[in-house]
Amino acid sequence: MLLIMKEKVALITGSSRGIGKAISIKFARMKIKVVLNYRKNEDEALKTLNEIKNLGAEAIVIRTNVSKEEEVKRMIKEAKDNFGEINILVNNAALGLAVPFKDMSFEIWYKQIDVSLNGIFFVTKEVVNDMISQKWGRIINMSSIAGINGLKYLTAYSAAKGGIIGFTKALASELAEYNITVNAIAPAFVETDMGKSYFEWLEKRMNYEQPLIKYLNYFTTNRKLITPEEVAEFASFLVSDNASGITGQVFTLESGFNLQWYEALK
Ligand SMILES: NC(=O)c1ccc[n+]([C@@H]2O[C@H](COP(=O)([O-])OP(=O)(O)OC[C@H]3O[C@@H](n4cnc5c(N)ncnc54)[C@H](OP(=O)(O)O)[C@@H]3O)[C@@H](O)[C@H]2O)c1
Repeated sequence: MLLIMKEKVALITGSSRGIGKAISIKFARMKIKVVLNYRKNEDEALKTLNEIKNLGAEAIVIRTNVSKEEEVKRMIKEAKDNFGEINILVNNAALGLAVPFKDMSFEIWYKQIDVSLNGIFFVTKEVVNDMISQKWGRIINMSSIAGINGLKYLTAYSAAKGGIIGFTKALASELAEYNITVNAIAPAFVETDMGKSYFEWLEKRMNYEQPLIKYLNYFTTNRKLITPEEVAEFASFLVSDNASGITGQVFTLESGFNLQWYEALK
């Protein structure tokens, strides 16, 4: 059984849909109070909020662009006005635009890095001092296999996700003495809006006749890509007291998925 001290509060960035949503629902089931965050999609965010409230858990939702420092400061203030403190942070919000590097403008490069890496700086900076004072904290940064292997047509995204790994390890070593763990989860493809848009982009570019996702499933142990719910299960372990000795690690969740799929794309 997962042990977690009572009355924890978690901020999950980018939690209106996809992996962030699944993590929020899992945490709510663990009786963690949840601060949901989104950028644009209010309908999905409110739907997620209702799902959580229907579980009998406490939650609020805040619209914030994580790459805007002033907006992030306002989000953290609103979260603390509601719940007092933030004990758990999941840096999940990101953009994943596929663009061949030869066609990539600095604007697209910058936007990717700004949301997916600078956003983590702003949010973590705003919560870390409180975690240090509380001498307890859990930080999970959502990386990707793109940050380890590099993914074709995702150079900016891969750079941001690789940067997150260095950030995770460095921060973990700084914060260990305060009983704060910092870990990264690096999934392979997950069938979310972000995952699907990359598959669809590749399908068009490669003139695939079959949905690529069915093909990718073939390269896994159980013929199934990792689901958002499986990522959420793992996140729930990392924030539990059972994982208090685990920090500075990068966990690749990929069902045995590996680089073979590049062969298929040739
Ligand atoms: N899907 C995959 O295959 C995969 C694989 C490995 C790693 N990951 C990582 O897992 C995380 C979640 O991915 P996902 O597939 O669930 O993505 P997704 O389905 O595209 O959802 C992205 C979430 O981030 C929010 N968001 C986007 N830009 C934001 C910003 N500037 N400020 C605040 N929120 C913002 C979106 O809000 P709105 O709804 O308002 O737009 C949404 O809630 C990301 O870090 C991603 O890189 C995904």
